[in-house]
Amino acid sequence: MINEKSIDEAILRMFSGISFPNEPAGLYDPLRYMISIGGKRIRPRLCLTAWALFRDAFTDEVIEPAMALEVFHSFTLMHDDIMDRSPLRRGQPTVWNKWNEDTAILSGDVMLIDAYKRIAKAPAGVLDSVLKLFSDTASGVCEGQQLDMEFENVQEVSMEEYSRMIGLKTAVLLACSAKMGALLAGASEEQCSALYDYGWQLGMAFQVADDLLDAFGDEKVFGKPIGGDILNCKKSWLTVRTCEALSGDSKALADFHRRFAVQAGSDSEKKAKIKDIKEIYIKLGVDAAAREEVARFTALALEAAGRAGLDAERFELLRSFADKLVGRAS
Ligand code: IPE
Ligand code: IPE
Ligand code: MG
Ligand code: MG
Ligand code: MG
Repeated sequence: MINEKSIDEAILRMFSGISFPNEPAGLYDPLRYMISIGGKRIRPRLCLTAWALFRDAFTDEVIEPAMALEVFHSFTLMHDDIMDRSPLRRGQPTVWNKWNEDTAILSGDVMLIDAYKRIAKAPAGVLDSVLKLFSDTASGVCEGQQLDMEFENVQEVSMEEYSRMIGLKTAVLLACSAKMGALLAGASEEQCSALYDYGWQLGMAFQVADDLLDAFGDEKVFGKPIGGDILNCKKSWLTVRTCEALSGDSKALADFHRRFAVQAGSDSEKKAKIKDIKEIYIKLGVDAAAREEVARFTALALEAAGRAGLDAERFELLRSFADKLVGRAS
C-alpha cells in the first residue's frame, strides 16, 4: 500500500518537475513564481491520498490531474489577492504587488487554461466524469468568490449564508480533489461519493480555520498578513458568530456593526481596528467557538470517510490527513 511518505515524495517530485512555457516571460514568470513559492499543496495531496486508497503505485493517470488542482487553486489565489487587496501570500509578495494587476489577471487566466490541459490528460474512460466534476467545481468557486465579495457590503450575514459561501469558494475544491483521486483510481460510485463528502466537510473545517487564523494566527507561519479580513469587512466565521452572540442585545449589536464597518486608512488606524475587533472576539469567546466548529466539521469528515468501506490502514490515511490539515487551528 502507498504510505504517507510516498505521497510526500510524489508531491515533491511533481512540483520540482512541473514545467511551463518560457516565453513571454511576463506571462509565465508569475505562474512559475506562484508554484515555486510553495504553499501547502493540500489539494493535489488529497487527490493522491484518495488514489492511494485503491491503487498500489502512482501513475501519470493521476499525476497530471493532481497538478491541475494545484495550478487551478493557485490561479484562484492570484485573482483573490487582487480582489482582497492582499500584499502577501505564502510569505512572499503577491503577484499584483510584485508585478501589477494586469499581469496577475492574465497570468491567472493562463493558469486556468494550463489546469484544463492537465485535466484533459485523464484516462479516456473517466475523462467525461473528471471534466464535469472539475468544471462544476470551478464554476462553484467563482460563485463562492462572488458571494464573498458581495458580503463585504452587507451589514449582517446569517450562518446559513456564510456556510453556502464557504461551501462554494473553498469546500467544493477539496471535495473535488478527493473524489477525483478515487474516480481516476476506478473506485465505486458509493466510494467516490463518500470521498466527496469527506473532502467537502474537510473544506468547511479548513475555511473556518483559515478565518480564525486570519485574525489570530502568526503571520510567519500563516504566510498572509494578520487582520486582512477585518480590514476588508469580510464576513468571516468569527464575524457571523459574533452577530449571532449579540443578537439579543440590539445596542451591542449596532455598536459592533459600527466598529466593524470602520474604514481604516493609515497604518495606525488599521492596527487600531484590528485590535478593537479582536478584543470583541476574545470577550465573546468566538475564537474558542471557531476551534470547536473546526473540530465538528472534522468529525463529520471522518464520519463520511467511514462510508467509503475501507480497512483500518486505509481509513488511517484519511484520519491522518484530516489531522494534519486542521491541526494548525485546534
Ligand atoms: C488558501 O488556501 C485559500 C483558502 C481556501 C483558505 P491554502 O491555505 O491551501 O493556500 P496555500 O496553497 O497553502 O498557499
Ligand atoms: C479564498 O478565500 C478562497 C479562494 C481563493 C477561492 P480567502 O480570501 O479567505 O483566502 P485567503 O485568506 O486570501 O488565502
Ligand atoms: Mg478572498
Ligand atoms: Mg483572500
Ligand atoms: Mg482567508
